[in-house]
Amino acid sequence: MNAIVRKPWSKPVLTPHRSGGANKFGNARRGNFTADIDGVPIAELVAKHGSPLFVLSERRLRENARRLLRAFRTRYPRVRYGWSYKTNYLDAVCATLHQEGAWAEVVSGFEYDKARRLGVPGSRIIFNGPYKQRAALERAVADGALIHLDNLDELYMLEDVARAAGKIVPVAMRLNFDTGHTEAWSRFGFNVESGAAHDAARRLAAGGALRLTGLHSHIGTFVLDPRAYAAQIKIMAQFMDFAEREASAKIEYLDIGGGFASRNALQGLYLPPDQAVPAIEQYAETIASAMMEAVRGRKEWPWLILETGRAVVDDAESLIASVVGSKRLPDGRKSLILDAGVNILFTAYWYHHDCQPTRAIDGIPEETMVYGPLCMNIDIMRTSVWLPPLDIGDTLVFNPVGAYNNTQWMQFIQYRPPVVMVRENGDVAMVREGDTLETMVSQERLPSGLDQLFPQGLPE
Ligand SMILES: Cc1ncc(COP(=O)(O)O)c(C=O)c1O
Repeated sequence: MNAIVRKPWSKPVLTPHRSGGANKFGNARRGNFTADIDGVPIAELVAKHGSPLFVLSERRLRENARRLLRAFRTRYPRVRYGWSYKTNYLDAVCATLHQEGAWAEVVSGFEYDKARRLGVPGSRIIFNGPYKQRAALERAVADGALIHLDNLDELYMLEDVARAAGKIVPVAMRLNFDTGHTEAWSRFGFNVESGAAHDAARRLAAGGALRLTGLHSHIGTFVLDPRAYAAQIKIMAQFMDFAEREASAKIEYLDIGGGFASRNALQGLYLPPDQAVPAIEQYAETIASAMMEAVRGRKEWPWLILETGRAVVDDAESLIASVVGSKRLPDGRKSLILDAGVNILFTAYWYHHDCQPTRAIDGIPEETMVYGPLCMNIDIMRTSVWLPPLDIGDTLVFNPVGAYNNTQWMQFIQYRPPVVMVRENGDVAMVREGDTLETMVSQERLPSGLDQLFPQGLPE
């Protein structure tokens, strides 16, 4: 009998080729290149700081934050913004956004300490995350931070901390539910549909040590349909009514998390970002009108809290990398080796980052595979991008790369490069030195007896 052999199912993907129209010689020359960042020549940046190099734009970062706040505050009057530290917690990024009026949104004791060290008062910190150590909760209670509960064990622990401190601590609950628009994330917070969130709110009220003053949810990331947020707000508002009616709560804010898409090309998405990604004003329009509906009839309107990460920082940072080698693959395709790989550009796993030469290059563009420098098969920066003939030493600029790379990068095989910021006045400031051998080994300790490497003499 013949066994039925099933092939594994793989998601079909259509990828448009954006090589430009053909002329009589083949593909048209693609003149696109980026020679400077905010007026500072890339060649100058590389000559001074080397390659690879991350470059932040202070101007773009500030503009993005201002545009977000303007879009929301003009449509709903009570808006607060918490900068999502894990998106990019370089001090320079956080400080710039705090200057623009952002609170800190942190998800661990480490991020909490980083915000405090930078000078953010506890009263301006939103403390999220599924694991908060007791010591971090004690600090947050003492500082008056906004603590967002993730689960019942945390609720019990916080009650204990509150009693020990002799305080009734205001808290928010993180909720999860299905908006019907995005994949429902159910692992964070209390589930609404199952009734677990309702039980937890009643339990919280009965404990007498905590006071429910806020609701939080984060429905996902790179959410392309603003209507998902309208559904989110409707569900949160229904829960707010329940909590005020049956769990002695007085809700002062609805925190809708982050998730607005940045102008990046998500893998598997057919349309380019300019067409697929809604403008911030479109998100604001839909969210503000859902908020207006939610507050109808209420004397005091709750604050709307945003925790927008990637949409604010992504296009404010670029990565410059140099071509260090090239070869033809067995299937005839051109390939390049760069000095920057997925160890520092983690998001290359899910975005097709825009990647441009930094000078005008003559020659016919070719489909090119772009590898990083790691001795690992998975170190691929772009599987297919149309590039003109590049020489060794030519540089490429990747953008947007500001979200999740400077926090998820790894010490793996290569040193992590420096990060500089082009200031609004055109100055270039170092904001994080590159790794050195000292960075890599400073935490290592060699147990005694292991310092003599070859006690029997050098091996043959
Ligand atoms: C609780 C919370 N808030 C905010 C964010 C920022 O999300 P994004 O970068 O998609 O805006 C995240 C990211 O996952 C998150 O988990």
